[in-house]
Amino acid sequence: MKTRITEMFGIEHPIIQGGMHYVGFAELAAAVSNAGGLGTITGLTQKSASDLANEIARCRDMTDKPFAVNLTFLPSVSTPDYPGYVKAIIDGGVTIVETAGRNPQQVLPALKDSGIKVIHKCTSIRHSLKAQSIGCDAVSVDGFECGGHPGEDDIPNFILLPRAADELEIPFVASGGMADGRSLVGALAMGADGMNMGTRFMATKEAPIHENVKQALVAATELDTRLVMRPLRNTERVLNNAATERLLDKEKRLGSDIKFDDIMEEVAGVYPKVMIDGEMDVGVWSCGMVTGLIHDVPTCKELIDRIMAEANSIITQRLEGIVAAKLAA
Ligand SMILES: Cc1cc2nc3c(=O)[nH]c(=O)nc-3n(C[C@H](O)[C@H](O)[C@H](O)COP(=O)(O)O)c2cc1C
Repeated sequence: MKTRITEMFGIEHPIIQGGMHYVGFAELAAAVSNAGGLGTITGLTQKSASDLANEIARCRDMTDKPFAVNLTFLPSVSTPDYPGYVKAIIDGGVTIVETAGRNPQQVLPALKDSGIKVIHKCTSIRHSLKAQSIGCDAVSVDGFECGGHPGEDDIPNFILLPRAADELEIPFVASGGMADGRSLVGALAMGADGMNMGTRFMATKEAPIHENVKQALVAATELDTRLVMRPLRNTERVLNNAATERLLDKEKRLGSDIKFDDIMEEVAGVYPKVMIDGEMDVGVWSCGMVTGLIHDVPTCKELIDRIMAEANSIITQRLEGIVAAKLAA
């Protein structure tokens, strides 16, 4: 397939792996890129700019294909060294950056001056238009279904994507709830130039996370995610577990008085324990509703090849067949 996104990023297939905290290491990014998609290293998972520089170099050793780095701007206890991370990205020769969380204006001039393409992840049309107006090259439109932070508007992709197609001039990819060839064809039909997947890429052989996490995704259904931190206007979609239930109980008890401090135990510093040590109930961790469509743990290449074969067959057989049957009648 050839879309504005494959052309812009120099990739074979219109499939992107979104940045994921403690999941988006060089191994996964390289595997996705080697399979013809766009892999992404998660910048802030690296504790310092020099760690990020090393991770970029490690990824470069594993692939000669383009890969991206994610820079997330979210409320955090201490402000990360964004200028240092940007320098590591530029010096490392990275050509694509995925920004997310807040308006990426502060990093745009440096990235654009270095010829880096910026795809900003947004959960609303107004934020997408803002991204377009400040000079982002593309957006990743993240529907209510998504794992991670779906924002506060709660608009699912069947509405959000056609709205994005109506409003935007720059290309966009569909993000949230994407899993297979059906997702890709649906996204293209709604005007997207590709799709971004998070949760689905966690359940792959190369994702350098604990097997317990992958098996939890295979076992879970679409009914097993919850929204947490809504009262703090920092909503996150996570897999239901003991910590999630405890956190939701605190939200219920404390109501609008709840503070970040009240939920530190459930949210702070839990990612390495879940993703690396496989302690499944130690805290809350992002997971999309799409977990209900995940039934196996393939390699990234098997997954991407399967998606492309399914998408091609839907377009050339099922859809063409439907149109041909009508014409023949
Ligand atoms: C475990 C996990 C961690 C994530 N961490 C980040 C992150 O650090 N920065 C970011 O921009 N998005 C993050 N995301 C969001 C993904 O990049 C992607 O937008 C989202 O997963 C898409 O929805 P899906 O899970 O339904 O595919 C995370 C998602 C997951 C599942």
